[in-house]
Amino acid sequence: MVRLTINGKLVQAAEGEMLLSVIRREKIDIPALCHHEAVEPYGACRLCMVEITRPEWDGWANFVTSCLYPVEENLIVSTHSPKVIELRKTIVDLFLACHPNTPEIIQLAADYGVTHTSYEEVPEPDDCILCGLCTRICETMGFKAISAVGRGHGKEIAPPLGEAPPDCVGCLACAQNCPTHFIKFSDRNGVRRIWEKDFELMACSRCGRKTITREFAESLSAGRDIPMEYFEICDDCHRMETSRTMGRIANWSREVQP
Ligand code: FES
Repeated sequence: MVRLTINGKLVQAAEGEMLLSVIRREKIDIPALCHHEAVEPYGACRLCMVEITRPEWDGWANFVTSCLYPVEENLIVSTHSPKVIELRKTIVDLFLACHPNTPEIIQLAADYGVTHTSYEEVPEPDDCILCGLCTRICETMGFKAISAVGRGHGKEIAPPLGEAPPDCVGCLACAQNCPTHFIKFSDRNGVRRIWEKDFELMACSRCGRKTITREFAESLSAGRDIPMEYFEICDDCHRMETSRTMGRIANWSREVQP
């Protein structure tokens, strides 16, 4: 167990745990747009920056991205010191120059009192903050449908050769976890469309709802050894069936008790 101080409070953390995870456990709110518990930290957005020091540093301090910095014994962490706020404001200011129309960035800027950018706005802004969360989540799911291509202002997230990605199974993990909702998809008439690719949605044999693509079901079935029949019933109906079964077991055990 490691002991450290965050905003004046002594806290405990597990060896190897990242500062951001402890900060969140302490319910301290700091922005962390490129972070997701399910994937390795990447340090792209820099918004989770905090100030650190140690008793023996004689007042000297350093600034680190908390998602990538492991806890240390006796570390003293400030998540909202004047210098940290100033640094975060500068990062938000830069984000605002690149994404002036993105609601999540506008809200973040408002939270930090940044009303307009002091940098030159990019000529054709979009909502992609290039945090790489979509590509990391795609990889974690076992696919490589999209990646970062190009450089500088031309850098973007795209499928290989800009064509419908053969590796995409339409799971939506990229779109649903994009912090700025840049990745668009549609579910219409039993067809899901994402990254310019169409997928057939399987209908639940109980309620008829269409929630999973055949390709995603097949990949889960093959990769995790789950029979394909499992995916013929949607998650909600599976849950309902489980609670009914649990109810029957509870009634049965009440009946057989002496
Ligand atoms: S959350 Fe740490 S750099 Fe983005």
